Amino acid sequence: MSKENPVKLQDNSQQRRILVTSALPYANGSIHIGHMLEHIQTDIWSRFQKLRGHQCIAVCADDTHGTPIMLRAQKEGISPEEFIAATQAEHVKDFEDFLVCYDNYHSTHSEENRELCELIYNRLNDAGHIARRTISQLYDPEKKMFLPDRFVKGECPKCGSEDQYGDNCDNCSATYSPTELKNPKSAVSGATPVLKDSEHFFFKLTDFEAMLKTWTRDGHVQEQIANKLDEWFDAGLQEWDISRDAPYFGFEIPGAKDKFFYVWVDAPMGYMASFKNLCDKTDGLDFDSFWNPESDTEVHHFIGKDIVYFHTLFWPAMLDGSGFRKPTKVHAHGFLTVNGTKMSKSKGTFVKARTYLDHLDPEYLRYYFMAKLNHRVDDFDLNLEDFVSRNNSDLVNKYINIGSRVAKFMSKNFDLELCDDISEHPLIKEYQDAAEPIAQFYEQKQYGRAIKEIMNLAGKANQYIDAEVPWLKIKDEETQNEVHQLCTVSLNLFKILTVYLKPAIPSIAKKVEEFLNIPPLKWSDAFSVLENHKINKFKPMLDRVDPKKLEAMIEEGKEEAEAANQPQLTDPLKDEIEFKDFDKVDLRIVKIIKAEHVEGAEKLLKLQLDLDGVVKQVFAGIKSAYSPEDLEGKLTVMVANLAPRKMRFGVSEGMVLAAGPGGKDLWILNPDEGAQPGMRVK
Ligand code: MSP
Ligand code: ZN
Repeated sequence: MSKENPVKLQDNSQQRRILVTSALPYANGSIHIGHMLEHIQTDIWSRFQKLRGHQCIAVCADDTHGTPIMLRAQKEGISPEEFIAATQAEHVKDFEDFLVCYDNYHSTHSEENRELCELIYNRLNDAGHIARRTISQLYDPEKKMFLPDRFVKGECPKCGSEDQYGDNCDNCSATYSPTELKNPKSAVSGATPVLKDSEHFFFKLTDFEAMLKTWTRDGHVQEQIANKLDEWFDAGLQEWDISRDAPYFGFEIPGAKDKFFYVWVDAPMGYMASFKNLCDKTDGLDFDSFWNPESDTEVHHFIGKDIVYFHTLFWPAMLDGSGFRKPTKVHAHGFLTVNGTKMSKSKGTFVKARTYLDHLDPEYLRYYFMAKLNHRVDDFDLNLEDFVSRNNSDLVNKYINIGSRVAKFMSKNFDLELCDDISEHPLIKEYQDAAEPIAQFYEQKQYGRAIKEIMNLAGKANQYIDAEVPWLKIKDEETQNEVHQLCTVSLNLFKILTVYLKPAIPSIAKKVEEFLNIPPLKWSDAFSVLENHKINKFKPMLDRVDPKKLEAMIEEGKEEAEAANQPQLTDPLKDEIEFKDFDKVDLRIVKIIKAEHVEGAEKLLKLQLDLDGVVKQVFAGIKSAYSPEDLEGKLTVMVANLAPRKMRFGVSEGMVLAAGPGGKDLWILNPDEGAQPGMRVK
């Protein structure tokens, strides 16, 4: 589309050219429903713009660089490239199945990104916006690498609690620098880190302070964000450390050996790189016309509140300093909570996108997010009861019901043919008048207000059908005509509502288009009227949400969390033992001669174990899996030389070996028949 000759839309407004992005998900983990809050709202916004007839392009990518990804790949014994390719395939599939439609999904580990990153850096450097100085940081002498804060563990300098990360304490919430930790250990190798000097590169954010102060008050960020920014300005802007030493998975800094760009430098450039990649394969799509500083195109970033600093300070400053345009708007959103609390692995509410999709239809979540989102930065609560009731009472019972209520008359009595002379009906007029206010709500990301308006209209169609009593009128030949009119009006209302809802529920909208036998709806179709037109038979479009499926999803979330919680076999901070230590453990076959309940103990059974003549008493936590009578007479394996321990219910003189995740799935070792009590096992 050329800049000089913008296409006129049906409503005579000019066609806008808009680039939309969601924050680039890290390539080191799965997409979860928190991410989906962002991608769904971005998708609704860009689908809305497309529906209105604007040129809107939505791009995203995986954020692939940095130490955590490098180490994860190492641990799995594959290259970082292989690792990020596998994650990207998973992410792309998750978004597709949630009906989130990106025109391009790329990677920050791409040639386009490397080139852009070098270009922007070189321009900043040439303009004097990069400083260099030597700093001292914790270094792992075994792994020969500098340690990011999260990879140092030790005792909290404030409260002394053990096993705390290098940046803050889980126990007392103190924040500190990793050099303050007591007894620091590298979480990578277990070695004690040492302080080491290295030259770092800094981006002089302070050079852009005046520009940023104006920009952030110029309608490019929400008010809540502008206020937050004022606090940051008051606290004073700092130079930003943009380099990391090798080994690092990322792009090398031009002209500096073994220095790499910190992941957050090339991450936002990934937006441009993904767009560039799309331009290179699309005729007529021009990168420069979107990114030159005088461009009349728009760039909109959708992001979470945790990464506002990067998007409203570093990013516009880097763009400004390197001769590119700045974003039109940064739309920040809050975090997803479930039933009022933070998503939690143990409660099963940390739900992966795939786990959700295994149980529920994506459009339930899309509709729910739409129904409750607004333009503010507050957290968003997914209340599971509300989720069920809004989908069932609004989407199914109010909206889809309009189509299904009149469909049976259409097929039984009117041969699926709509009548004419209905375009002046006051309800149709009322529905059309709502188009502009609803569009404004979409535009401003006040999705909840749009839905309120839409469901209010849907309620009116249902009242209209009720008042006309078609089920009675159809019985009388004289009033059958009125029913035909009612059906035609109702289906036109159903069509208009579908236009308004289409950005949120694209696949249901497609089913409606098939039912009404019409081409894909555009926003302007709210103003056309279907008359003398043949429709198709109605097919079910969406089931009610089954609360059992929701429960099953949460259960699966819990199971996934338990499985992920198993101690890591390769955790370097668990001490290794020598064979001679292991050899001290005396493992013996024993016969369980007596097993009984222990009064007051929830998990324990009291066992008498025969080691070929010697009898030992052991308390074993296996009650959830075995009744005493099932155990008597069986052989098992015990640690026979464990020092006796006094427990609440008596002395335990050893330990029985069992394996399994717990609960009913707990198996004591069962040696085969040939084993004899007293035999050594190793
Ligand atoms: N890779 C960076 C972004 C780089 S953008 C140039 C990153 N990745 S992330 O995977 O941690 O987060 C991606 C987006 O998801 C961010 O906007 C983040 O705020 C959002 N969310 C992550 N968890 C979320 C919730 N629980 N709720 C809502 N949004 C959440 O940050
Ligand atoms: Zn502490």
